[in-house]
Amino acid sequence: MKNIKFVTAQEAVKVIKSNDRVHLHSVAVTPHPLIAAMCERGRNKEFRNVRIQHIHTEGPAPYADQEFEGIFQLESFFVGHNVRKQTQAGWADYIPVFLHETQRLIREGYLKVNVAMIQISVPDKFGYASLGTSVDATLAAVENAETVIAIVNPKVPRAFGDAMIHINDIDIFVEDDSDLIAKDPGPISDTDRKIGRYVAELVEDGATLQMGIGAIPNAVLSMLGNHKDLGVHSEMFADGILPLVDKGVVNGKNKAIDKGKMVATFLMGSKSLYEFVHDNPGVAMQDVAYTNRVNIIAQNPKVTAINSALQIDITGQVCADSIGTTHYSGVGGQIDFLRGASLSQGGKPIIAIPSVTNKGISKISPILTPGAGVVSTRANIHWLVTEYGAVNLYGRTLQDRAKLIISIAHPDHQETLDKAAFERFGPHFHFVWDAE
Ligand code: COA
Repeated sequence: MKNIKFVTAQEAVKVIKSNDRVHLHSVAVTPHPLIAAMCERGRNKEFRNVRIQHIHTEGPAPYADQEFEGIFQLESFFVGHNVRKQTQAGWADYIPVFLHETQRLIREGYLKVNVAMIQISVPDKFGYASLGTSVDATLAAVENAETVIAIVNPKVPRAFGDAMIHINDIDIFVEDDSDLIAKDPGPISDTDRKIGRYVAELVEDGATLQMGIGAIPNAVLSMLGNHKDLGVHSEMFADGILPLVDKGVVNGKNKAIDKGKMVATFLMGSKSLYEFVHDNPGVAMQDVAYTNRVNIIAQNPKVTAINSALQIDITGQVCADSIGTTHYSGVGGQIDFLRGASLSQGGKPIIAIPSVTNKGISKISPILTPGAGVVSTRANIHWLVTEYGAVNLYGRTLQDRAKLIISIAHPDHQETLDKAAFERFGPHFHFVWDAE
């Protein structure tokens, strides 16, 4: 690593000054040594009113805590588990935005970035290093920040695509060799397995898959072993995809763009996943402006987008970001992919949810809880899947939708939902056509 002068994290963060906006690299490559050093300066009251932005960081997020009121203000693009309590309590805040437009906020100057704090792979002999497992809106931050501070870490995979940046674009370098934050896939529950089976039946050979993190995507992927020629164009992917690549099921052969390549903008998974993307020309880590842009997504055939929800009403309005007025996550890429799948030839937008929460509350309700955020409208929703089946709402009337949705609600809640639909739509709701 000749020509690179390293400084300590404490030295590096001295560039941060009052009223700055700091962008943090996300998920597995969250730059923790820089965050710790920045918070130390904050605790010493060396600056005030520093705004922090990121999509989602993993690990501790002390900058969101109440103790930093007036020193840091978090304005995240997604509310992850590590900043949820602080956001719900009002100490931290959230910017509702489609994931594909997070970069636009930066590139078009809505949010001016003073300092970008990132983590990169070891530069090659030409001076190129990789943003590793997260490109998302961070590439836009690197391009637009007044100062870029990078931790060079040999554990960051050398992932290709838009992830490759040149060290001339970085101002300050810090060395570290900590492991990236990794998450092993959890066990698949019986409910998720049933949902996974229904979703897997909807996936056709030659489909291009998008799916989020969590148990349902893993359950779906575990049932695709006998499929053929699947491709991946997603916001993210995790470990569930690896056995399918090994078996040749995921080969990207049928994709219309990025043929043969798996495309994502961030990854979250185990150490094996990070090893898989290292130096792998079959994976393109791309700008979120590309991965999540509706007209790019729609170019691939049979785009099958599998997303989840917190609550859905009997007409098909999907709430995915709050529980009533209590903010829980974010708009994320749900609409980007549901819309992209809808416009793709043979595409299938799918919302997959357990019928009840882990506390037994029905996720299907007559109306959304007051204050719930509609992330996907009635018109965006096609397939809805629970452990009780799969129904297609596209092209169906309000009353037909209610009947279909109630048919896959938890049996303990069907009667209440049916009564609510009857009150809402009137006696015609129970009208049955004579059989031919
Ligand atoms: N009423 C009350 N509480 C509810 C609820 C409801 N209808 N639905 C869920 N909850 C509670 C659960 O009990 C659980 O509580 P806990 O944390 O105390 O255990 C919590 O909310 C999370 O619910 P769960 O169903 O496990 O959520 P999840 O982890 O499967 O995430 C979303 C679901 C919708 C939050 C997630 O998919 C998301 O953020 N989506 C929006 C962004 C997106 O779709 N991006 C594209 C793919 S990356």
